Amino acid sequence: MSEPAASPVHSSPADAAALPRVRCFSGIQPSGAPHIGNDLGAIRNYVALQDRYESIYAIVDFHALTSTHDADLLRRRTREMAAALLALGLDPAKCTLFVQSHRPEVTELMWLFTTVTPVSWLERTPTYKEKRENQPEDVNHGLLTYPVLQAADIVLYKASLVPVGRDQAAHLELSREIVRAFNNRYGPTFPEPQAVYTEAPVVLGTDGVRKMSKSMGNTIEIFAPADEIRRQVTSMVTDTERIKRTDPGRPEVCNVCQLHRFFGDDYAEIWDGERTARTGCVDTKKLLVERILRHYAPARERYAELMASPVTVDRVLEEGAERLRPIATATIAEVREKMGLR
Ligand code: TYM
Repeated sequence: MSEPAASPVHSSPADAAALPRVRCFSGIQPSGAPHIGNDLGAIRNYVALQDRYESIYAIVDFHALTSTHDADLLRRRTREMAAALLALGLDPAKCTLFVQSHRPEVTELMWLFTTVTPVSWLERTPTYKEKRENQPEDVNHGLLTYPVLQAADIVLYKASLVPVGRDQAAHLELSREIVRAFNNRYGPTFPEPQAVYTEAPVVLGTDGVRKMSKSMGNTIEIFAPADEIRRQVTSMVTDTERIKRTDPGRPEVCNVCQLHRFFGDDYAEIWDGERTARTGCVDTKKLLVERILRHYAPARERYAELMASPVTVDRVLEEGAERLRPIATATIAEVREKMGLR
């Protein structure tokens, strides 16, 4: 890897030949339907990287328990997320898709990692501070320990590349610090994981200000009914200084225009239409709805098929977890040995 270890990697096909075959890992919470922020910021890279690296993807239900406490809901969302990832292009012949809790060795590694992790590192994590504010009635210990579990997720499989959106940068940095602390104390054991970003590391929500996120209620959902997607796109905040239809628009600050970059090759023309006021925000939004629906049509069809065949989805997940067993048990054996647990 030619990049310094601390900097994120931007994936481009040209890198592929230069890199040794390394392992890649990422996780996604089953916290609701995936939105285009998840896809543009991370899932597109999951799909791209499965062709180039040994790739492992987890639906992180242990992490989701820090906010979701309804067992049936969690079960349903876990299967929905698996179907969504398969529909969006994960191929079980090329990568391993599994449910985090189905490989329980990760909880042991997490505990071992807590013993090299100062509490102060966890208390300063931005997501912990956010959650403390967002769910003050439920500041559970899992929220604090969340990044330790995330570090364990990645390095249980000795993965070094982690495709994520930029909102995960602090977690990734913490994973690296935990790994460094472990390696310093017990000797070189784990690679320091490195983030891999797409060309859209932060996708803004329909409010045009905050990152797109289920918890902010500002998402465009990939598998929602077409009318719902239309409603979500129509509600998008555009260039707030473009008051009249005849005012020139500023595509660089308009989130609708920004999203067009990812749903067609002609975005320069669309931007020009906005700049010259040849087109209005309503036209540009209508076109975006069409483009999003067209882009995701095959995935939406595949998703419906998979949801109609839960056995197929469950089988992929079971096989995935089973395939990982030897790696997980070997890592735990090595770590136990190094820490004096046998
Ligand atoms: P989660 O479930 O919140 O999000 C899944 C992935 O989607 C990316 N993402 C975005 N990217 C760009 N713009 C957005 N608006 C946007 N919203 C979400 C996230 O960055 C993420 O890559 N803590 C993780 C799950 C996790 C994990 C791991 C990730 C657990 N263990 C190990 C990597 C490695 C999370 O909550 O992601």
